Amino acid sequence: MSTIVVTGCAGFIGSHLSEQLLSEGNQVIGIDNFDPFYDKKVKERNLAGFSNHPNFRFEELDLADFEALTKNLKDDQIDVVVHLAGKAGVRPSIEDPQGYIRANIVATQNILDLMKDKGIKKLAFASSSSVYGNTKETPFNEEQDVSNPISPYAFSKKACELINYTYHHLHKLDIINLRFFTVFGPRQRPDLAIHKFTRLILNGEEIPMFGDGSTSRDYTYYEDTVAGIKGSINYLLNNDCVYETINLGNNQPVKLSDMIAAIEKACGKKANIKQLPMQPGDVDITFANIEKAKSLLGYNPQYSFEKGVENFVKWYKEIND
Ligand SMILES: NC(=O)c1ccc[n+]([C@@H]2O[C@H](COP(=O)([O-])OP(=O)(O)OC[C@H]3O[C@@H](n4cnc5c(N)ncnc54)[C@H](O)[C@@H]3O)[C@@H](O)[C@H]2O)c1
Repeated sequence: MSTIVVTGCAGFIGSHLSEQLLSEGNQVIGIDNFDPFYDKKVKERNLAGFSNHPNFRFEELDLADFEALTKNLKDDQIDVVVHLAGKAGVRPSIEDPQGYIRANIVATQNILDLMKDKGIKKLAFASSSSVYGNTKETPFNEEQDVSNPISPYAFSKKACELINYTYHHLHKLDIINLRFFTVFGPRQRPDLAIHKFTRLILNGEEIPMFGDGSTSRDYTYYEDTVAGIKGSINYLLNNDCVYETINLGNNQPVKLSDMIAAIEKACGKKANIKQLPMQPGDVDITFANIEKAKSLLGYNPQYSFEKGVENFVKWYKEIND
């Protein structure tokens, strides 16, 4: 049994991860500030299933506030930090780059300083496929040059990977940067396309399709992502001198037009599509090479896209009944 800090525990991925870590007998200290990026009520619902678990403690605080962070965790012995908190989303980052610098870069710097000061050695960090920008080299592999981010969100994640390396080098922290690829499933953030399109189709409203439907994303079902995060926790606990960057994708990009068709099928209803121009900051394709995750973390994604969409729509209907 380990004591694990999960930042962003009230969010989509963080709530699922916390729940699983608790069910496996770990102590979880969850941190979240209910960032207003989406409704607090949604996050409270995410927390509801485990907030009373005897091995769970919730700290509502802003990670950009170093004093609050150090004060609230001063008495804890912590084995691993899984740092998922942050502002997600490409398009809103163009409107609010300063907010992304604070919630992503400053917060990560604070996590690293906390770890250095308290002698916590192990960190798994949520990076993103967005760091690959509009590279033409597919599938994306971790050795590729990622010095051309095309949104503030992407540069914030790349900046965090760089700070992580510096702290690994200077302070001997063991760190894995996990590059997630469009994670979906029950509790998915309401701003993400599968969630948004399901809501609009079921309400009989028009769905905005940016581009001609040929852009594609390497959608990853949340259970596979969570399994990959747990693989990285095990790897960190069993190895020293670690600094790795690892893709957690599905290796099967799905076209936007096929994604819409899968939602139509799961909803049993046709979409009313409004085609709009591509959005600045959006990339054409994400496509993960996952060989490194397989060999180092035992990662092996199990879910087909169609099955994942079915599960999502079923969940969406249940919570909106
Ligand atoms: N969901 C995806 O498809 C995806 C893909 C790539 C990377 N990621 C990354 O994975 C992580 C989790 O994503 P998610 O989809 O669960 O997002 P989410 O928005 O549902 O969860 C993030 C949580 O972090 C919290 N948070 C934000 N700023 C904070 C701060 N300053 N202090 C404390 N808490 C703060 C938010 O309140 C939220 O509950 C994010 O870092 C995101 O950038 C997600």
